[in-house]
Amino acid sequence: MAKLNWGMIGGGEGSQIGPAHRLGAQADGNFVLAAGALDVDAEKGRAYAESLGVAADRAYANWQEMLEGERGREDRVDLVTVATPNSTHFEITKAFLEAGFNVLCEKPMTMTVEEGEEIVRVAEASGKICAVNYCYSAYPMVREMRQMVKTAQIGKVRLVVANFSHGHHGDAGDADNPRVRWRYDPAMAGVSGQFADCGIHALHMASFIAGDEVRSLSADFASTIPSRTLEDDAMVNFRMEGGTVGRLWTSSVAIGRQHGFDIQVFGETGGMRWASEQPNQVFYTPVGGRTQIMEKGEAGLSDEAARLSRVAIAHPEGFPLAVANIYVDLAAAIRGETRNALPSAMDGLRSMAAVYAAVDSAKADGAWVDARPQILR
Ligand code: NAI
Repeated sequence: MAKLNWGMIGGGEGSQIGPAHRLGAQADGNFVLAAGALDVDAEKGRAYAESLGVAADRAYANWQEMLEGERGREDRVDLVTVATPNSTHFEITKAFLEAGFNVLCEKPMTMTVEEGEEIVRVAEASGKICAVNYCYSAYPMVREMRQMVKTAQIGKVRLVVANFSHGHHGDAGDADNPRVRWRYDPAMAGVSGQFADCGIHALHMASFIAGDEVRSLSADFASTIPSRTLEDDAMVNFRMEGGTVGRLWTSSVAIGRQHGFDIQVFGETGGMRWASEQPNQVFYTPVGGRTQIMEKGEAGLSDEAARLSRVAIAHPEGFPLAVANIYVDLAAAIRGETRNALPSAMDGLRSMAAVYAAVDSAKADGAWVDARPQILR
């Protein structure tokens, strides 16, 4: 099968998420890095793209140049990944969709709900794919949990408890470090700090596994380091359309917790738990029974979990291969096959609506607020 041409914006040398995209997109031979505007520093970006094998005339100085350069080519990129800082996602994603490119945008998709609605509209009008990189949903054992819920193996889901709480911004002495400080500065980060950064991954995961969407929420935000304007800790209670009860704790000051992303799903006839630091196992307890450890790669898993596993049981698969699974589904979608599990622009919009709802709720002492985008009410 012919390889697809892939372009990347952001994710330059030394960036946090860039390597996971490059490993992920190219892991299965579906995509070849054909074009890029990789860095805010034009020369650094061009040089780095060329060092990765991009032809000199497709190693662009910035995204605008890339848009102009690619739109006229017969071998134009089949997919553009947007892995720049949050405040640039909207204009880049919109411009590429309008020019007829498929886009994978990093989270959060936009900075405001209105921008999110606009991306959903533009994506629909263009007929192109607009996916959002909620990559944790692509771990094989997360897909297994989703299948277990779908096939009623734990009965109706009563309760979801999700945490995305780490301690990497817990040192007050480091709070003025520019790499940390911008995340809690409204001028750079928008209306929310930790909840918009990490909490939305957990909220997306709750919906993804439970097969239910958030309807309303009540939030308590705290800036535990007083110099911070935006929250570095949040507790969010939520209710889903189908009646599922949700609890979510997200923090960046939970010293000792590392990645700190885990989720528990409790149904009428069983419970499950998964943690991103042990992504190959799901702990499953049937009501009245013993806890069982289910392993990626073992016999008897769902087709969906088996499809997204690469190496044999007991060999760890980690974060870049979860990102690779997003690209597997993107490649299939670009080639015309349906992949319903791909996180969409609508998921990106739902997250932004939840962020604004949480901010409003926190300001109103935890009042319950409708968390759905206006267009879904
Ligand atoms: P970073 O600051 O480490 O890297 C950003 C990169 O983008 C740098 O190479 C920078 O030079 C480049 N850049 C900045 N402005 C640009 C522009 N206008 N045009 C082209 N390149 C530009 O940031 P990081 O942590 O890699 O985050 C990038 C995005 O990825 C953020 O939106 C973040 O929320 C998201 N992210 C997602 C994760 C996930 O699990 N899905 C994990 C980490 C980050």
